[in-house]
Order: sequence, then C-alpha cells, then structure tokens
Amino acid sequence: MNDNTSLHTVLIVDDNPTNLEVLSETLTGAGFEVAVAVDGETALEQVSYQKPELILLDIMMPGIDGFETCRRLKSVPETKDIPVIFTTALSDTEKKVEGLALGAVDYITKPFYREEVLARVRIHLKLYNLTNTLTKQNELLQAEIQYRQAAEAALRQLNEELEERVEERTKELTTTLQQLQQAQVHLVQSEKMSSLGQLVAGIAHEINNPVNFIYGNLRPASEYVNDLLNLVDLCQQHWSNVPSEIKQFSEQIDLSFLKEDLPKVLASMQMGADRICQIVTSLRNFSRLDEAEVKTVDLHEGINSTLLILQHRLKSRQGSTGIQVTKDYGVLPEVECYPGPLNQVFMNLLSNAIDALEERDQQRQQAEDGDPQSEITIRTELVHADQVKISISDNGSGIPESIRTRIFDPFFTTKPVGKGTGLGLSISHQIIVEKHAGKIWCYSSPEGGTEFQIQLPVHQPQKAIASSK
Ligand SMILES: Nc1ncnc2c1ncn2[C@@H]1O[C@H](COP(=O)(O)OP(=O)(O)O)[C@@H](O)[C@H]1O
Ligand SMILES: [Mg+2]
Repeated sequence: MNDNTSLHTVLIVDDNPTNLEVLSETLTGAGFEVAVAVDGETALEQVSYQKPELILLDIMMPGIDGFETCRRLKSVPETKDIPVIFTTALSDTEKKVEGLALGAVDYITKPFYREEVLARVRIHLKLYNLTNTLTKQNELLQAEIQYRQAAEAALRQLNEELEERVEERTKELTTTLQQLQQAQVHLVQSEKMSSLGQLVAGIAHEINNPVNFIYGNLRPASEYVNDLLNLVDLCQQHWSNVPSEIKQFSEQIDLSFLKEDLPKVLASMQMGADRICQIVTSLRNFSRLDEAEVKTVDLHEGINSTLLILQHRLKSRQGSTGIQVTKDYGVLPEVECYPGPLNQVFMNLLSNAIDALEERDQQRQQAEDGDPQSEITIRTELVHADQVKISISDNGSGIPESIRTRIFDPFFTTKPVGKGTGLGLSISHQIIVEKHAGKIWCYSSPEGGTEFQIQLPVHQPQKAIASSK
C-alpha cells in the first residue's frame, strides 16, 4: 500500500457479483477506495453525484452496455476526462479497438489477474494525475503569461505617459527659462538705460549752462576785441605823439604779433565752444529720456550723435591707424520710433564693430602695408514706401559660423570678462523686433567681415505718436 493510491476512488461497474467482489477486494486490498455499480444506468447516476478518478467498466451488461455507458460519460464535460478501462472476456480485437476509439484508455481481460489489474489501474491513475497536474500548471502558466502581458502593457503605457510628461515638462521649463532670460534682459536693459540716460542727461544739462556763458559771450567778446584792436590801430596812426612809455610796453608785449594772433585765438575758442555745444546736443539726443513715447525723428541724427559719442574709439591711436567711417545715407522720411532705445541699438552695433576691428588689430603682430584699412560703413535706404533699412558693416574678421546662431542669445559673449556682457545684441533684437515691429539680420564671413541689417516700419502700428518738435 502506498500513499499515492490511498486516496483514489475507483468505480467498478459489472453485473456479475463475482467479478465485482474479486475486483473490489483486489483494489481495496491495495488501499484504493472503491465504489460499485451493477449496470450502466446506475453507474452514470452515481458518477453524477460522486466523481471517481477511474472507472473499470464491463462491456456486456443488461440495459445499456459498456460502450454506450462510455459514450455517455464522454459526452458530458464533467465526466469526459475520467479514465475508463474496459473489463471484458472478449478477445475480439475489433471490439477492443471500438472501445479504445470511444475514448477508453485501456482494457483488462477476464479472468482477472490481480497484479495486472493493479498495475493497469495504477499506471492510468498516474497518467490521469500527471495530465491533471500538467493541465493545471498549464493554466497557471497561461494566467501568469496573461498577467505578465498585462503588466508589460501597463508598464509600456506608463512609460509612454512618463515620456510624454517629461517632454511636456521640459518644454514648459525651456519656455519658462526663455521668458526668465527675456525678463532679465528687459530688467537689465531698462535699469541700464534709465541710469545711463539720467547720468548722460544730467551731465549734458550741467555742461550746457556754463558752455552757453562762453558761447554766448564769444560774439560780444570778439566784437570788443575788434574795437580795441581798431583803437590800437588809431593810436599807431598817431604814434609820434604817443609817450615813449607806451611804445616801450607795446614792444614788450610784441603788439604786432598779438594783433595778428588774438583773432585766431578767439576763432579757435569759438570752434571749441561750437564743438562742446555739438557734443552736448548729441548727448541729449542720445540719452533721450522720452523713450516711453513714439516720436517722429530723423534717424541720421541719431546715428550721427552715436558716432560722435564713439569718436574717441574711432580715432587713430598708437598701434592702430584708426577706423574710417563711411556714411552712405539715402533719402529717408522721418521715422516713427522710440529714439532713445533705437540709439542704444546703433550704439551696440557700432561698439561691436569697433570691438571686432580692434581685436583684429591686436591679433596682427604689427601693422603691415598690405593690411586693409579698418572700415565701418553705414548705409541707409528707403525700401518700399513704408520701410527703412539701416546697414552697419565692418571689415573685421567676421563671426564664425559655429556661433552665428547664438549671438542674439542673452549673455552670449566671446569677449573677456569685464569687456562683454553678451547683452548688446539680445537687447537690440528685443528693441527692433518687439518694440518696433522691425527685423534684424546678421551676415558674416571671414573674408567679408560682418554686416547687421535693420529694417523698420516708417509708421509704428500703435498710433500713440507725439511730435518731437
Ligand atoms: N561686428 C561683429 N564682428 C564680430 N563678432 C561680433 C560682431 N558683433 C557681435 N559679434 C559677436 O557676438 C557676440 C555677442 O555680442 P553682444 O550681444 O553685443 O555682446 P558683447 O558685445 O557684450 O559680447 C560678441 O561677443 C561677438 O562674438
Ligand atoms: Mg556688444
């Protein structure tokens, strides 16, 4: 007796009591649990409320025979898997084959041999159990596969969602960063403009008054001097009557040279005062604190003022031959714009051009005859009826292609710390594109230098225009 068999229920179906007894005893003796039925119908009924694990089925029985019983068992889903072994006295091969074709797993011939019965019953129970286990494991595996597939799909979905969210978030962050940088540029720009503008306007105002004293008095002063010189002339006509003391003093002060030089001194003072007045006007022009308003102005005036302020950087100095500025001005109508910020753009572009030319000069070991003269060319023209174009170009060494897309980025600079802020072009871009609904382009090549082009509408879209006059 072993544990494997102790729990199994075997149903024996036979109309012969002796057969029933022999089989029953054999199986019970081997530790099987045994149920019996004496015909096919009873067997079917019994199976419906207690399912055995194996059926030993006699073929020749009164009522429905073994084959029919087997057919019915196999036609019901609940019982179709129960292994059926036919017990038969027949040695007729055809019948055995018919039984097997009906779904029986084996047959045992009568008279029974105890050991054969047990061996066949055991082997089929084992097969049946193994099949069951396999089926169950298969089901479990199927479930596991389905579970994993579902988990994988969920994971994939989650991953996709995550990627989407990361992408969205990155986009948001990039936009925020750009807005932040723009805001920072705005802030720096307005801060710089207002403090610089106030400073320049303050100085211009302070200088303006004393210069006006000088400038205003120069004309009467030269008239007085003329009168005095005429007086001296008159005295000299009567030189013989003049006391020797006066003659002596006139020699001492070299009167004839003084008479010749004094008008020149006055003329040069006049020139100096003129120039100071010009500079003061330029400073005021440049710093225009009226930037909140759109005004109608002559753009050439703004460019000229900016050039005047930059004059000291254009002149020849030791180690450089200076920069030649060519103005190729077209006929422009007055343009509606914010003059202060626009001058700031001219200043940024011209400073960059000067920086580039100076840098190129420094890179040259020493000036040679064949070196091209450093040049800045400013061109203006009316394109269409309502657009003006301003081009500022230099013949410096250009902007390398690798950085050309970045020059308008806030804080992008190739200049040493302390020299460049990297804000000039980004501010200029903002002023032209956002403030004036204009356009700005950069063309550059190592041979041809760099050209910045600005296009501005003659009339601003918003109509808040006040005359500058
Ligand atoms: N005319 C030019 N020639 C060569 N490089 C230029 C010129 N204008 C601008 N650049 C390049 O663009 C960069 C950004 O210019 P900008 O925004 O004015 O900042 P910054 O002048 O403070 O460096 C400069 O550092 C320089 O590399
Ligand atoms: Mg700059």
